Amino acid sequence: MSEQSTDLRETVRRRYAAAAVKVTEGGAACCGPEPAETDENFGSTLYAADERDALPAEAVAASLGCGNPTAVAELREGERVLDLGSGGGIDVLLSARRVGPTGKAYGVDMTDEMLALALANAEKAGATNVEFLKGTIESVPLPAATVDVVISNCVINLSVDKAAVFAETFRVLRPGGRIGVSDVVADDALTPGQRAERGDHVGCIAGALSFAEYRAGLRAAGFTGIEIVPTHPVADGMHSAIIRATKPATADATAGASGTADTCCGVNACCTPTESAADPSRTVTEAKAASGCGCTG
Ligand SMILES: C[S@@+](CC[C@H](N)C(=O)[O-])C[C@H]1O[C@@H](n2cnc3c(N)ncnc32)[C@H](O)[C@@H]1O
Repeated sequence: MSEQSTDLRETVRRRYAAAAVKVTEGGAACCGPEPAETDENFGSTLYAADERDALPAEAVAASLGCGNPTAVAELREGERVLDLGSGGGIDVLLSARRVGPTGKAYGVDMTDEMLALALANAEKAGATNVEFLKGTIESVPLPAATVDVVISNCVINLSVDKAAVFAETFRVLRPGGRIGVSDVVADDALTPGQRAERGDHVGCIAGALSFAEYRAGLRAAGFTGIEIVPTHPVADGMHSAIIRATKPATADATAGASGTADTCCGVNACCTPTESAADPSRTVTEAKAASGCGCTG
């Protein structure tokens, strides 16, 4: 990973560590913790009242997402769900209720303070079919083909290596598995510079992919049935959106994106004149160096 990417990831970690501490320390307030975010386009107001009421106040207060992925993922009894960037645990806890005792909900997050808050929230909720894992969404600490559904709420835009996130999502899903993600997506006409004018990276704006880039990234990872539907605006030309896609039932259970025909080493159309980085925020050289598959030529 380049020094710039390492720095950006550390800035993201610090920002969300501070948000978790704010919620944890606010626990002493008379009417429960202060919400970590007050912007109406983000956070717990995007959930139905009966969903919020069934959760610990700290899980609701720590909600920093831009949608409600559990509402779109159509979770079923007995399924195994993974939440990328699980934060204070709101979507893991809601998923755990939906999949029931025969199912399981995993959350992965890189921020210790968020993991501690999520664990405390799971205990308060009495949830036994949940597990929070420390790790990054670019290198998920789960074996291949172990989950039925991957959800995520406003986290993929924060990643410094989106191609790796899509590849890892594909890897951990079983063949026939699906994604139901909420994320910020930019109009195709907006350049990366124009996105950055509308908000910063840690605030979930500057790092957003465009609709076409999101689609291309998922397709390069091997996903099919890709659907990206905007739900509400979060800035001029930028939207919260629901993203759905499927890992083909015929996919090799152990294959990640680097094994697919039209992408390798973090680039599309590898070693041809049209070669470009699968993550458009990277150069081809950076994408190949970051892919970890030994291809640098
Ligand atoms: C905007 S918050 C969303 C949290 C949660 N999904 C929600 O809806 O409340 C982003 C979360 O993702 C985590 N995160 C950001 N980038 C990450 C990465 N590359 N790997 C793992 N976790 C990450 C942060 O620590 C933080 O908890």
